[in-house]
Amino acid sequence: AKLPQPFTAPLAIPPVLKPVRSDADADYYEITQKSAKAQILPGYTTEVWGYEGRFPGPTIESRSGRKTVVRHTNQLSLPTVTHLHGGVTPTQYDGYPTDFLLPGNGGRVRVDKSIAQGSYDYVYPLAQPAATLWYHDHRMDFTGPQVYRGLAGFHLIRDDAEQALPLPRGDRDIPLMICDRSFAADGSFHYPSIDPSLTGKPGVTHDYMKGLLGDVILVNGTPWPVLEVDAAKYRFRILNASNARRYQLALDPPPPKGAAFTQIGSDVGLLERPVNHDSFAIASAERFEVVVDFSAYPVGTQVTLVNRFGSGTTGHVMRFHVARKASDDSSVPSTLVKRDPLAAPSSVTRSVKFSRSGSGYETWTINGNAFDPNRVDARVTLGSTERWLIKSNAHHPVHIHMGHFQVLARNGKDPRPSDAGWKDTVDVLPEEEVEIGIRFAGYRGRYVFHCHNLEHEDMAMMANLEVT
Ligand code: C2O
Ligand code: CU
Ligand code: CU
Repeated sequence: AKLPQPFTAPLAIPPVLKPVRSDADADYYEITQKSAKAQILPGYTTEVWGYEGRFPGPTIESRSGRKTVVRHTNQLSLPTVTHLHGGVTPTQYDGYPTDFLLPGNGGRVRVDKSIAQGSYDYVYPLAQPAATLWYHDHRMDFTGPQVYRGLAGFHLIRDDAEQALPLPRGDRDIPLMICDRSFAADGSFHYPSIDPSLTGKPGVTHDYMKGLLGDVILVNGTPWPVLEVDAAKYRFRILNASNARRYQLALDPPPPKGAAFTQIGSDVGLLERPVNHDSFAIASAERFEVVVDFSAYPVGTQVTLVNRFGSGTTGHVMRFHVARKASDDSSVPSTLVKRDPLAAPSSVTRSVKFSRSGSGYETWTINGNAFDPNRVDARVTLGSTERWLIKSNAHHPVHIHMGHFQVLARNGKDPRPSDAGWKDTVDVLPEEEVEIGIRFAGYRGRYVFHCHNLEHEDMAMMANLEVT
């Protein structure tokens, strides 16, 4: 397909979903998962699989501690699983990869313990601080293609401590979902077919082994969009929803006084203190909440959000056009919120090694094992804090369900400035050893941890975590 001129289409902001009802106990939402035609490239239609037929899906906004019930109805042709990424969620609602929701237009039928048909109510207690979470498909072995077709959306949690801060808000608080796609000649999403003639082995192509990379960068579903901004501060909730691509984000031109981004939040909530970055790396599934002050630029400046890891079409993400002077009473205080400190880790140190195993069918493994839903790989105690040593022989964004963590060291040295705060995903580089302190506060039951390169995840780089 013919690619558009960058920086012509306006940035779209996903609509905020309204609850269908609220009572003393909870807010209730309904989402239909369905196929729809979207205009992504000018002059082409693209079939998307979307929550409410949209890509990105509608944004859900919840209050911390307020129960949120989302009834998902599957009108697609295949099973789905919905996971709230970053949520502290009871296991039956966490989107375990085999807890399928089968397509069906009939009523809600519970086929067996873990399979539903038609609709399923995901119940989220959200007893956790304000954060930028996201929801996406998590079907065993097919998360990559299903997310690629569009099954991803934001779920924001707000709380009083956050609301009391003088941060940019309203129209100046904007979620940005960044992902890459490639398109076939007819404008459809191009996910490489799994062609055994390429390798002699079913299910494996070379591209697919590394994770899928596209040549078009989308922000909130639009290729290289442009946003007109006031010469004022903006809060951006940046999510890398790409299947496999990492970005090194920077502003071009940089602001004259440096510090393009003031980071105020990480994956699962606000930082205690802001951290300044000229640029930062963001791996698949990570979130960075940053404040950018466009008053540092003369009115009329075009400021491009660039990807220093990219080249050609992938070196650009989106553009801001500083359109006008405007009043701005927002600020970023030097202390933001109080977060629970990380408790001293218990005596348990767990070593988890992410590596490729190459005999027979090539696959991606954790501690030498391909994912098996029937094997417990790590048994942890509810309420405990453990030290994990994550080792890797390639680049893997490592994500852990339910347990939130802090990065303590990389190769025995201080973590990166962009590792600050509580996280659910950590960017692990080839031959790196990353030490984290992880707290299992939440619920007992069966969860997973996995590589969030979705092709690696689908090729079994996932393990079971049993919280007892
Ligand atoms: Cu974002 Cu287990 O997933
Ligand atoms: Cu998750
Ligand atoms: Cu990986």
